[in-house]
Amino acid sequence: MDNDAVLERLAEGRLVEGPEHASDDYVKGLARTLIVSGDTELISAPAYLNAAAHAPRLQSFVSVVGIIQDELGHAHIAYRMLRDLGIDTDTLIYERDPADFRHPYAFDVPLESWSEMVVANGFYDRAGFVLLSDIFEHTSYAPWKRALVKVDREEGFHLRHGEQWMKTLAADPARRDDLQHAVDWMFLMTLEWFGLPDDLKRHRDQIDFGLKGRTNDELRQIWMSTAVPFCESIGIDVPAHRDTETGAYVVDTPFPQQFDEREKRWLTEEGTISWETVLERWRARGPANAELVEMIQRGRVELREAA
Ligand SMILES: [Fe+2]
Ligand SMILES: [Fe+2]
Repeated sequence: MDNDAVLERLAEGRLVEGPEHASDDYVKGLARTLIVSGDTELISAPAYLNAAAHAPRLQSFVSVVGIIQDELGHAHIAYRMLRDLGIDTDTLIYERDPADFRHPYAFDVPLESWSEMVVANGFYDRAGFVLLSDIFEHTSYAPWKRALVKVDREEGFHLRHGEQWMKTLAADPARRDDLQHAVDWMFLMTLEWFGLPDDLKRHRDQIDFGLKGRTNDELRQIWMSTAVPFCESIGIDVPAHRDTETGAYVVDTPFPQQFDEREKRWLTEEGTISWETVLERWRARGPANAELVEMIQRGRVELREAA
């Protein structure tokens, strides 16, 4: 099937049930989107597991382990669909170089406190929720649409877990500053997650083929439209506000900025940088990248050595 035939099928409001209804370009675009999704879900598991060590009590640790279990389930869904498209997912997951994983740079910056763990739920899972809700609403790939009903509901739980804890920490004078500190580096990190602004964005085929609906800038706005009022409601500062005239959210600090990944601090004093510089930082991957991928691949390596 060629691209025109796929576009015609989509114009008639019919979804794609499998590669037999698709063109090579469609399958390539779908696979690229599924790899980003699967890798993001998968890598959040070891990232959250390291952070769970800072849980203030056993019950909180158990909550995070429940979230990790959900994330592994979400990753499985994406990889399972990739396998159905003929991709060797064993090689993809266990043999790939850590630098070639496609999750956002944000997860390559280690989560090292309970504040950072719950802000990850409040911010990163919210980003997951926004992105997956868009795919759920707009995807032309029927198997993914069906699977996302369950995923979306679970991401909602993760996000509420984050909000509940952020509210608790914000109300505790002894822990408020630590929460603010986490928000200070994680807010822009999540804004960056949505990717290049629309005027620089490639991969237009994702929208033409109905693999996603909204643009990066629209999704960034949707994320801010709940994240910013939530932080304001608990008295936590974020560098963005809603413009009362346009209704749009405005970032009140240079964006994008360079990030000092050792100190986990934005170099605001250096001003706005180019997206090309951001892409360079992303391509180099962050400090936790190799460790997190190694945690995923370790079991397979040990199994092979034992055989
Ligand atoms: Fe997830
Ligand atoms: Fe999640």
